[in-house]
Amino acid sequence: MTVYAIAGATGQLGRKALDDLLTRVDPTDVVALARDPAKLVDYAEQGVAVRLADYDAPATLTAALAGVDNLLLISGNAVGARVAQHGAVIDAAKAAGVSFIAYTSILHADESPIGLAQEHRDTEALIVASGIPHALLRNTWYMENYTGSLAPALQFGVISGAAGDGRIAAATRADLGAAAAAVLADGITGVHELAGDSAFTMGDFAAEVAAQSGKPVAYVNMTQADYQAQLEGVGLPGFIAAMVADSSFQTSTGALFDDSGALSALIGRPTATYQQAIAAALAV
Ligand SMILES: NC(=O)c1ccc[n+]([C@@H]2O[C@H](COP(=O)([O-])OP(=O)(O)OC[C@H]3O[C@@H](n4cnc5c(N)ncnc54)[C@H](OP(=O)(O)O)[C@@H]3O)[C@@H](O)[C@H]2O)c1
Repeated sequence: MTVYAIAGATGQLGRKALDDLLTRVDPTDVVALARDPAKLVDYAEQGVAVRLADYDAPATLTAALAGVDNLLLISGNAVGARVAQHGAVIDAAKAAGVSFIAYTSILHADESPIGLAQEHRDTEALIVASGIPHALLRNTWYMENYTGSLAPALQFGVISGAAGDGRIAAATRADLGAAAAAVLADGITGVHELAGDSAFTMGDFAAEVAAQSGKPVAYVNMTQADYQAQLEGVGLPGFIAAMVADSSFQTSTGALFDDSGALSALIGRPTATYQQAIAAALAV
């Protein structure tokens, strides 16, 4: 019997991965890790073992990983603290005798110019150094990063950014979660560059929103500095505005493009397109 665990199971990607894993293996072979186990009562009712695991409290991690064979470590969201947090999970996995670890990294982590990539590179290095057989799930940007802000786009008729004509091979959390579950269930080692089958520019995206909504929406490209200032102007904290503006600018250099087809191969279906994602977002 193999025991599968997901760390970060309470998150938006984690729930997608957990749902997909439960279509592949028996719930009683699944451990969902959470710093607040109460968030997963619905899964506990299905027979999933829900255990306390706080990346900032290493003692909880040792107990949480007891008996686990295959672990999916979903990267945390505390930017700046993540290498230490992930390192604590990897150390605990090693101590618990975990035999396979999959980690959600960033697209082309080894060469990505995006500032956020550094913590992923450092985490990947810790995983490699641990000697545990592993999979690096180098996830593209979520489609939801773009479809999540359609309301202001429709209100003001503008989507702004610093992405230029960079092609974006985004993918939905549902597709990336399914890929993570597939890799976890089958223990598929290696580097997986996971991106959408097709790519769009921000201009394509705005044009599609306009076409589907019947309202005028255009993409306005800005310099990275101007975009950062605009984000700060609408209330984003400085470091988040800097992070978003950096990621947007690096998109213009091709940082979010990939055409390996590895994601659709893993999930056994074409990835959701931006046209489908926009239609789904406009329908709610
Ligand atoms: N590819 C992209 O476009 C993109 C965009 C944003 C983020 N990301 C990365 O991908 C990850 C997953 O995305 P997501 O959308 O699922 O993010 P999310 O909804 O914010 O989920 C983050 C998960 O990390 C857990 N977590 C954070 N700190 C923790 C700690 N100290 N101990 C234990 N668990 C902790 C959260 O638990 P709680 O429920 O307790 O908060 C949650 O389960 C993010 O955390 C981030 O690293 C990728």
